[in-house]
Amino acid sequence: MTDALASLPQNNVLVKIEDGVAWVSLNRPGKRNAINPGIVFEMNQVLDVLEAEDSCKCVVMTGSGDAFSAGMDLKEYFREPDAGPPVARERLNRANSAWQWRRLMYYPKPTIAMVNGWCFGGAFQFLCACDLAVSADEATFGLSEINWGIIPAGIVTKSVAAALQQRKALYYIMTGDTFDGKEAEKIGLVNFSVPKAEMVDKVKELAKKLMEKNPHVLRACKVGYHYTREMSWDMAAEYLASKIDATKFRDPEQGAAKGMSQFLDEKSYRPGLGAYKRD
Ligand code: ACO
Repeated sequence: MTDALASLPQNNVLVKIEDGVAWVSLNRPGKRNAINPGIVFEMNQVLDVLEAEDSCKCVVMTGSGDAFSAGMDLKEYFREPDAGPPVARERLNRANSAWQWRRLMYYPKPTIAMVNGWCFGGAFQFLCACDLAVSADEATFGLSEINWGIIPAGIVTKSVAAALQQRKALYYIMTGDTFDGKEAEKIGLVNFSVPKAEMVDKVKELAKKLMEKNPHVLRACKVGYHYTREMSWDMAAEYLASKIDATKFRDPEQGAAKGMSQFLDEKSYRPGLGAYKRD
């Protein structure tokens, strides 16, 4: 364990690394893991540390107790900072955007959201920013903003628009109706929903699959996906052409050459059916 990992507060956010997977839990179970300034600033610190931590190959974001996250803390994230100095309000918004999507979407390691229970409002931001998501069938999701008279702001509306088709997105934004894990899977908000008793094993299986891939290329894949969605077709083609060169050039394990040789020369595997053998 590095000194940086050992020095994490382990207070509002718990971190445990096992077999390459960092299990990161929002840790305010008594408040259903509502996101307060404590979580915001600690989570940024956690992401900094895990980025540099060699023993962490994959990050799983989840919540302690029976909630994933009840969204932003209405008292500590909204009411109290709104009454304080604007500069502090702005700093808090910036720090929250950083961990919830600016950093997480482009995080250099694969990320999986594990939705273990209540998931409301602002929690959709980091749910959608994670690369993949697994839910418990028993989880309850909701865009509850409309129920207390605000729009889904931050980046909630944009995240939902990116993840869901229009009819579903607007239905849940405009009604605030709740839905369960199975519905989340059906509408594409999560990759898989399984009974809660099977959820951790499902996440481990998915993490294992991701950790078998070339991490350098895996990162370029997800960054390329997010950036090209905002580009024109021509710009995307140019970007991806440059990116594939850069990826090959910088790849510490020179995976493309290795994979090609294992298929064409050694005939030891088939790329269509699995990954090349890494050292
Ligand atoms: N902000 C502040 N406090 C919260 C939040 C929240 N988002 N969610 C829960 N809490 C607090 C409650 O006030 C309560 O505190 P207390 O024990 O000091 O009274 C404690 O957490 C437990 O909450 P209960 O409501 O008693 O828990 P229960 O399990 O019955 O219900 C549920 C859970 C459904 C999540 C409920 O707490 C709830 O509706 N929370 C608000 C969900 C929400 O609308 N989030 C905001 C989305 S909008 C946005 O994020 C921008």
